[in-house]
Amino acid sequence: MSRIIVVSNRTPGKGPAAGGLAVALRKTLAEREGFWFGWSGKLVETPSIEARFEDIDGLTVAQIDLNREDHHAYYAGFSNSILWPSFHLRLDLATIEAHWYEGYRRVNSQFARALLPQLKPDDIIWVHDYHLIPLATELRNLDVRNRIGFYLHIPFPTTDALYAIPHHGELMRDLSRYDLVGMQANRDVAAFTEFAEHQTPSTLSGSPLESVDFGRTEVAAFPIGSDPDAFAKLAVSSAANKMLKRMERAMGEQELILGVDRLDYSKGLPQRVEAYEKLLANNARFRRLVHLLQIAPPSRDSIKEYQETSDTLDAMCGRVMGRFAEPDWSPLTYVKRAYGQPSLAGLYRLARVGLVTPLRDGMNLVAHEYVGSQDPEDPGVLVLSRFAGAAEIFDDAILVNPFDTDETAEALRMALDMPLDERKQRWTTLMAAARKHSVDNWSKNYLDRLAPATPRDSSGTRD
Ligand code: G6P
Repeated sequence: MSRIIVVSNRTPGKGPAAGGLAVALRKTLAEREGFWFGWSGKLVETPSIEARFEDIDGLTVAQIDLNREDHHAYYAGFSNSILWPSFHLRLDLATIEAHWYEGYRRVNSQFARALLPQLKPDDIIWVHDYHLIPLATELRNLDVRNRIGFYLHIPFPTTDALYAIPHHGELMRDLSRYDLVGMQANRDVAAFTEFAEHQTPSTLSGSPLESVDFGRTEVAAFPIGSDPDAFAKLAVSSAANKMLKRMERAMGEQELILGVDRLDYSKGLPQRVEAYEKLLANNARFRRLVHLLQIAPPSRDSIKEYQETSDTLDAMCGRVMGRFAEPDWSPLTYVKRAYGQPSLAGLYRLARVGLVTPLRDGMNLVAHEYVGSQDPEDPGVLVLSRFAGAAEIFDDAILVNPFDTDETAEALRMALDMPLDERKQRWTTLMAAARKHSVDNWSKNYLDRLAPATPRDSSGTRD
């Protein structure tokens, strides 16, 4: 069987905090003698072009260092100040600096040059996410004819938003150099198709004057998931954890509403707190009987828009506390710190409501993990944004428009009032969907689809 080479900006770290993707691909890589390639996390003046190999808990990881200025242009600049906001339809939050694009391409070229000496002709290369869109082009320019797949973890933008991205024509041409482009949801494939069918040379910036030919690239939805049964086990075993025991005691009669998100403007956190505020304002009977726990580890905090989201949230949580807290009751806890999977699984199980309301999200794995962690005899209710990719899978959640905070407040009320029978019924369907879309099935489906692709010549044309 061919080796699998996984490439992403970040590689999995040491220890139990590893995410579901790392856990799923670890098995595949071990079986198929592959390795995971990415940035080491180190910034140096003149990076070596040679990758360093390391065994991290049985997983072979190959890493390169990056130059500080290049990394800034590639990561905080082009990837996270242009691509991330545009792909999430937040053009108002995009900042464009023309020179970032060169740094973005330089880093992709450095990845390709460091990978080249490690490749065998039959290897399957699987590239992950928006940081690395040009990688296939850079590899093909080095005459790499291997099968190369790309997976986009975030939503694909609407055509208008795509046009707002400098060099979008080149980026789309880059996508056409992959054999398989995987996306999270059908809506993403539809947005891609809309672009592919309506593009004309005049709509493509930064690209030679001809439209992009996607004829050799298969584009399809492969919704990612978690390992719901592993979360179920973890949720049971972590109940003995001291923090969770204290938490359970502290909750007493109160019902827990839980949110877990990176502190990112795409997650709709201010709208979520506003919806909770409306729940308390409109339904006095819930005061003292509910508690919102929002866990939001800081993310990309060198970027101004992330700092502003953090400030807004500080102010809103303070306002809700000031308005509703009493000396012996607090309506919410806001924690800016990351927790490992065992603690999260236990908290998900304690929570009567999993509140997952991003304004736009590729998939949202918190929704999957929440479902996996529930007690089948007394499951909680998932309140889910219709703009998360997960909404295509979890239609038995209470689906909300997160921009409409009255609707979300009403969904919270429904979730809190929902009788046990209905909770069980909905959860059974949700759990079946989480199992069907497990991360294991996802990687198998994707790799099965990529494996039969035939080699290309260096121009990207198939032999
Ligand atoms: C999203 C992206 C990932 C990224 C993660 C954390 O899930 O799709 O590619 O790794 O956020 O963001 P960070 O910027 O900290 O890597």
